[in-house]
Amino acid sequence: MLKLENINYFIMQNGKKKHILKDVNLSFDENKIYVITGPNGSGKSTLLKLIMGILQPSSGKVVFNGKDITNLNINERANMGMSYAFQQPVTFKGLKVEDLMNTASGKKNDLTSLCSHLSMVGLCARDYLNRPLDSKLSGGELKRIELAMVLARKGKLNLFDEPEAGIDLWSFENLTSIFKSLKSATNIIVSHQNRVLETADEVILLKQGKVEMLGGFEVVSKLISQEKCTKLRGGHE
Ligand SMILES: Nc1ncnc2c1ncn2[C@@H]1O[C@H](COP(=O)(O)OP(=O)(O)OP(=O)(O)O)[C@@H](O)[C@H]1O
Ligand SMILES: [Mg+2]
Repeated sequence: MLKLENINYFIMQNGKKKHILKDVNLSFDENKIYVITGPNGSGKSTLLKLIMGILQPSSGKVVFNGKDITNLNINERANMGMSYAFQQPVTFKGLKVEDLMNTASGKKNDLTSLCSHLSMVGLCARDYLNRPLDSKLSGGELKRIELAMVLARKGKLNLFDEPEAGIDLWSFENLTSIFKSLKSATNIIVSHQNRVLETADEVILLKQGKVEMLGGFEVVSKLISQEKCTKLRGGHE
C-alpha cells in the first residue's frame, strides 16, 4: 500500500551537504505493523515526515496505493487516510481536546466514542474533553491525547513517532494493545522499546540514514544485541 523508492534526503549545513537519508527503498503492506528502530539521529523521524509530506525528499518517490504522492502536501495525504502522531506533540491555542478529536475524525463524535478513544489511552474523558490543548497539559498527557486523536481518525495509514515517550507510568500492554486493535490499518511506529518492537510484523533497522536490516523482531533484536556486545568489548560496529 505504501512504497518508498530510492528516497534521499539531504540538507545544506554550513555550506556543506548533509546526507540524512540514503537510498531508502521500503515497501509496506496493508494491515500490518512496522516498527522502525535505530540509533538517535539515524533519520527515523525524518523518514516519517517524508511519508506524511511534512518534508519533501531530495530525490526518490513516495507511492501510496499505486499513486505517486511525492508532490502532495500534508492535507492531501491526510485526506487519503494518513495520520501522524508527532515525537513532540504540538499544542493548539484556543482548541479543546474534544475539538481536536472532532477535527481529526472530520465529524462531531458522540460522547460514547470520544470516551472510548480517551479511555483506550488511559485518560478519563470527564477530566479531559474540555481541557484546552495548551502547555498546561503534561508531556505524557499530550502524547496520549495525540494517540486518541489517531484512533478517532480511523486512518488507513497511521504513523507514530515514539508513542511510548513520556508515558512510562502507563502500562505498555495498553499501548501495544492499541496497535494490535488497529487491525484494519497499516501502522508504522518509530520506537526504541522492545515491547513495541515485539508487536511488529516487520522491524526496520535504520542506521546513519540507511536501511541496515529488515526482518522479524527476533532476527533484528539479535543483531542489535550483538552490536551492543561488540561495542562493550571495544570493537568496531
Ligand atoms: N533541519 C535540520 N537541520 C540540520 N540537521 C537536521 C535537520 N533535520 C534533521 N537533521 C539531522 O538529521 C539527523 C536525523 O534526524 P532525525 O530527527 O530523523 O533522527 P531520529 O532517528 O528520529 O533520532 P531520535 O531517535 O533522536 O529521535 C540528525 O542528525 C539531525 O540532527
Ligand atoms: Mg526522532
